[in-house]
This record gives sequence, structure tokens and C-alpha cells, in this order.
Amino acid sequence: MSIRRRIALFLAGLLLAGVLLSGCERGAHSRDAGASAEASSRPVVGFSQVNHANPWRIAETNDIRKEAARLGYELILIDGDSSAQKQVKDVESLIARRVDYIILAPKEFETLRPAIVAARDAGIPLILVDRMADAVPGVDFLTFIGSDFIDEGERIAKWLARKMNAKARIVELRGEKGSSPEIDRAIGFRNIIKKYPGMEIVASSYAYFERLEGQKVMEEIILAIGPTFNAVYAHNDEMAIGAIQALKAAGIKPGEDVILASIDGGKDALKAIIAGELGASVECAPRFARRIFDVIDAHRRGEVISARIINEDRLFDINNAGEFIHDAF
Ligand code: AHR
Repeated sequence: MSIRRRIALFLAGLLLAGVLLSGCERGAHSRDAGASAEASSRPVVGFSQVNHANPWRIAETNDIRKEAARLGYELILIDGDSSAQKQVKDVESLIARRVDYIILAPKEFETLRPAIVAARDAGIPLILVDRMADAVPGVDFLTFIGSDFIDEGERIAKWLARKMNAKARIVELRGEKGSSPEIDRAIGFRNIIKKYPGMEIVASSYAYFERLEGQKVMEEIILAIGPTFNAVYAHNDEMAIGAIQALKAAGIKPGEDVILASIDGGKDALKAIIAGELGASVECAPRFARRIFDVIDAHRRGEVISARIINEDRLFDINNAGEFIHDAF
């Protein structure tokens, strides 16, 4: 073999070793959706996320990614592309790869049941995070970890009742149709306003937790009913911020002509509160990965896990938004 050919072979060998090494390094923390769970000695956790369409979802995923890496778990992340049917298939694929645990943030309450039952039947512990689904915690799946959405709706209604002296004509922007936050935030809000005859929902439409949709739906409502309302309840911050843009474009002053309140407590919402355009936002904490992995660790040690673990959420308004804005997602 010529000397040039030997050098070429040596260099090719070095290159291949480099590729393999860097591949292992990536695999130590977060693997591509195509990797096989059996290949690893570390516990493998699959995470089926609804989508990454708003800052809340991105914050939740990043937090889970970070915590998995910190603790040395392998994470297989699959984005459901806002499709409940795809999410069912995503969970089935995690089951087929025999991951050790499944974390599922279900898009809808009803549609995800078959995926949960399939994980249960396959003996893979599944943790529902942030949204509930039509199955029994502690029986069909290990546990639910997230916020109390009914409580969030009730708290924002109480805030609005106080702010508006129990008199308001309210536009409601609802979240993703059929998701537990959409269902429960509507229930919680109504639980409170039904006690006040002066508070009335004059329009209610889905804007799917998205800013652009919030803006578009608000524009349509303004066209349909004109300035006959003086409050907006948005099921999340993103829709409230979209609504603020639509109100301003129509010459209606947010924070003066119309009082807005929402849920999530993200950075942009806190900025809008400080600017006087958004009245309040009840927090829905997206960063609770530590609790999720505490549960996984405890379960691996054989400890008993409580069936529901509820996050404590704060309420932000003009009195405290400045204090918390730096830590907001
Ligand atoms: O399930 C939590 C909700 O979903 C958040 O309020 C929202 O922003 C997200 O998409």
C-alpha cells in the first residue's frame, strides 16, 4: 500500500471515530426520535409534547430537556404538531421502543385516552403533565402534575369582579377546543360570574391559545358587536396580547375602555401589565420539570406516588409584575 493511501486511510479512521464520539455525546442527553431505547443503559424517558406554538410550550419543553440532561436521563422528545391523532401514534411509538417512562402533555381531554390505556397495558409508567385526559390518575397512569385550571378561571373572575365592581360585559377568548385548560378555565370563570348578575359574557370564541388567532378573533368580534363590551377574559396571555393589538387597531384603549385579564404569567404579559394594557394574569407555571423527575426517581425507588400533584400558581397585576418579570418565561 502506498504511503499516500495509508495516510488517507488513517485520516478516514480518525474522522469516523470523531463522528461516533460526537454521536455518543449527543445521545447522552437527548436522542433523536429514531433512536432505540434498548441501546442505552440509562433510563430512557419519552416526552410527547402537544406542539411548540407558543412561549409556554417552549418553556415547558426546555425545562424538561434541561432537567433530564442534569440528571443523566435520556430524553426522546416528540412534537405532536398540534394533532391529537399524531400524539396517539407518538405515544404508541414510544411504547414500541420500550422507553422506561412516558411524559405526556395531551392536546385534548378525550382523544388521548387510547394512548394512555396502551401505555398502561404495556406496563410503562406514564405521567400526564399540565393537561388532564380522560383516564384515572393512579390507575390508568402514574400521576398528573400540573396546575388547577378551574382555580385559575375562578381567580381571574374574582379579580375582574373586584376591578369592575361586579359589572362587566365580557368577551371570552377560549383556548384549544377540547383541551382540559379550555374546558376548566371556562367552568371556573362561570362558577364565579354566575354569582354576579351584573357580569355577563357577551361573546365567546375559540382562539386556540395563539396570539395571531387572538388578534383575528378579536377583530371579528369587534366587527360583529362593536364596542359593546368592556372586558376581555383570555384563556392565555398570548391570545390577550393578540386581542390588545386588535383593540388598539380599532381605536379602543386596552386598560381604559376595556379591561383585559388572562392566564399564564409570561414575560410579555407582565410587560403588558406594567404598560397598563393588561390588568392581570394568573400564573400557570410551565417550569415544573423538577417535580416530574422527582416523581420518576421516587417511583424507581419503589415509593408510593400521589395520584395528583398540583402546582401553586401566583397572580400578577400592577402590584407585583415588576418584581417577577425577570424570572418570567
Ligand atoms: O395547558 C396549559 C396551556 O397550554 C397554557 O395556558 C397555554 O399557554 C398552553 O398552550
